[in-house]
Amino acid sequence: MLTCAKGLAVQRAMQMVVALAEIYEAEGLVPVASAQIAGVSYKNLGDAGLQFLEEWAAQGARVRVPAFMNPAGMDLERWREMGISPQFARQQERVVEALASMGVALTCTCTPYLVGYAPQVGEHLAWSESSAVSFANSVLAARSNREGGPSALAAAITGRTAAYGLHLLENRVATHVVEVHCRVRSEADYGALGYLVGLQVGDGVPYFRLQRQDGLEGPSQEALMALGAAMAASGAVGLYHIEGVTPEAQQGVASGTKLPTIAISDLAEGYAALNSPLDGIDFVSLGCPHSTLADIERIAALLNGKRVRATLWITTSRQVRLLAQRRGLVARIEAAGGKVFADTCLVVAPVKEMGFKAMATNSAKAAFYSPTHSGLQRRFGAMEQCIEAALTGHWPGSAHSPAR
Ligand code: F3S
Repeated sequence: MLTCAKGLAVQRAMQMVVALAEIYEAEGLVPVASAQIAGVSYKNLGDAGLQFLEEWAAQGARVRVPAFMNPAGMDLERWREMGISPQFARQQERVVEALASMGVALTCTCTPYLVGYAPQVGEHLAWSESSAVSFANSVLAARSNREGGPSALAAAITGRTAAYGLHLLENRVATHVVEVHCRVRSEADYGALGYLVGLQVGDGVPYFRLQRQDGLEGPSQEALMALGAAMAASGAVGLYHIEGVTPEAQQGVASGTKLPTIAISDLAEGYAALNSPLDGIDFVSLGCPHSTLADIERIAALLNGKRVRATLWITTSRQVRLLAQRRGLVARIEAAGGKVFADTCLVVAPVKEMGFKAMATNSAKAAFYSPTHSGLQRRFGAMEQCIEAALTGHWPGSAHSPAR
């Protein structure tokens, strides 16, 4: 591949893979089972990124393992309803066309594991969206570093990636123990916990001991998604273990090793850091990571028969949206004035240009990024609080929130 025997596009990809292997002093390359390509949004790529992809595609680049796209900057079908300009839409379509011409599947989601691309235990991957990498490593016991968009594409074209970091078993053991002494219930609680732990462990591997919660089951899939997404945002955590919950937890702590311990007895600090002091809400965003069908069912039940005052977006994958549509959930949400958009999310869509000022979200990751990436002040809390804010236009419990 390096000698150009398989063409210029493959040579270029292999040069990238080898350069990364050299930088990280990898012991070699490993074959990858799949690749998830981030950097799909035109908002993040710009014209230079688009040109880079189109050139690579024109050289004849083709993926040789299953490869799929992260969210784009808009719903590919309903972009006008989002308030996206035709200029942005055209450039976004060119990005998607360039990737599709290389054989990358048009999934446009950060939850590929929910739409038919769940890896097998122990498989090596080249995934690049941080919450997806965290879920694949921690919950599904596959092995992936957090690749950049171009390096994931290079891995997809060559079928290989550099063997370093989380591909190696010795790097999958815990670096910190996190003793959680308070109750963690909602996805927002798991997000607040993840935010606090990510700040402290950086790119380490935390091992959680959760307080036993009488009458409550362990963390839901949505809670695990929220926890991993938050730690990958405030820190750079690509793998975590939870005692008695995640599949590699037992091997995750080397016996006899004394690890630094972090004690968490209160989530208030996490909530405080992710909440701006504001009352009025004009935009509510749910679905970071992309909503599951269970999330959409809950939202539809909370909205039933009511009418929102603020703009409400639920973002999900196209496949999950289709399932929700078949169950009548999309119609119920949209009858209440909400919008269920596919292919995109608030962080990668050009929200700054849409004139919103104050957002409510149940995602610690979205709350973390929204001031810088979307120019929004934000409120962060449970899904029920966010729906209440969508219905009233005020954050629950604030001065102008109607008593209910
Ligand atoms: Fe996914 Fe966008 Fe959040 S890519 S994890 S919904 S920032």
